[in-house]
Amino acid sequence: MAVTEPRVFTDPAQLREALKDRGVVGFVPTMGYLHDGHATLMRWARQSCDTVVLSIYVNPLQFGPNEDYASYPRDLERDVKVAASAGVDYVFAPTDGIMYPPGFSTRVSVQGVADTLDGLSRPGHFTGVATVVLKLLNLVRPDKVFLGEKDWQQVAVLRRMITDLNVTVEVVGVPTVRSEDGASRGLALSSRNSYLNDEQKARATVLSRALRAVQDAYAGGERSTAALRQAGLTVLNAEPQVNLDYLTIVDSNLQEHATVTDDPFNRILIAARLFGVRLIDNMPLSAV
Ligand code: PAJ
Repeated sequence: MAVTEPRVFTDPAQLREALKDRGVVGFVPTMGYLHDGHATLMRWARQSCDTVVLSIYVNPLQFGPNEDYASYPRDLERDVKVAASAGVDYVFAPTDGIMYPPGFSTRVSVQGVADTLDGLSRPGHFTGVATVVLKLLNLVRPDKVFLGEKDWQQVAVLRRMITDLNVTVEVVGVPTVRSEDGASRGLALSSRNSYLNDEQKARATVLSRALRAVQDAYAGGERSTAALRQAGLTVLNAEPQVNLDYLTIVDSNLQEHATVTDDPFNRILIAARLFGVRLIDNMPLSAV
């Protein structure tokens, strides 16, 4: 069946005009190069909202000077087709000039949850994310925003910002979508996976296998954070390509403790560089 392609806007005023009287608006912010993880967010929005808006914007503010901003994959034509098949009504694809016109001088900086983990490894990253997402929320003015749990810390940072700055939007967290393809089964989908060939993707499943090993140790009764971590490290050590940034078990405030409780919000988070690509993943400590 042919699907209607969504209208693509670069001008926020025209988007606002199109969104008048369109009922409950659901919003999915992305940087494009869409995969099934993104499409799942769009489908969740489609199910619970009258109108679905997708933004595609590779935000320069959230990339460090030595990161992959210039090489980040981009394909708007293909993205619009993915958006169409997931039922998106409008695509907002602003230019840098619209988002950051000359004289732009404001930053949204979240403290606490943004200061650990990726906040340490990628200085300024979450300030760039919070700044662009607040701008996008102000431009789209959605009722609900759909965020992927694949970026667990990002969800925590954005929830904090939305609460602290009284942004009237409901945050919906969507579980991580993983590859179901043979050898790369279990790998969290990411636009950055496009930097890897098939063999490298298969080897990158070591991250999700390490997270599962920690879950298994927890299910077996282990409650010492050091011992739980060791269960994951043993798996990681079998893959020489892993350059580990962190493997940690944290509570809902992203704090690590020497012993874990049975709080269902406890989470195992991992970040590592493999084949020159920085990948992140996470799972609940307690697999249900
Ligand atoms: P991007 O990496 O394109 O991701 C857009 C949204 O898709 C985020 O909410 C992310 O968590 C979600 N997502 C990515 N991979 C996923 C997967 N495998 N399963 C479920 N959800 C997944 O995250 C960003 O862009 C940017 O930081 C952004 C929020 C758009 C601000 O620029």
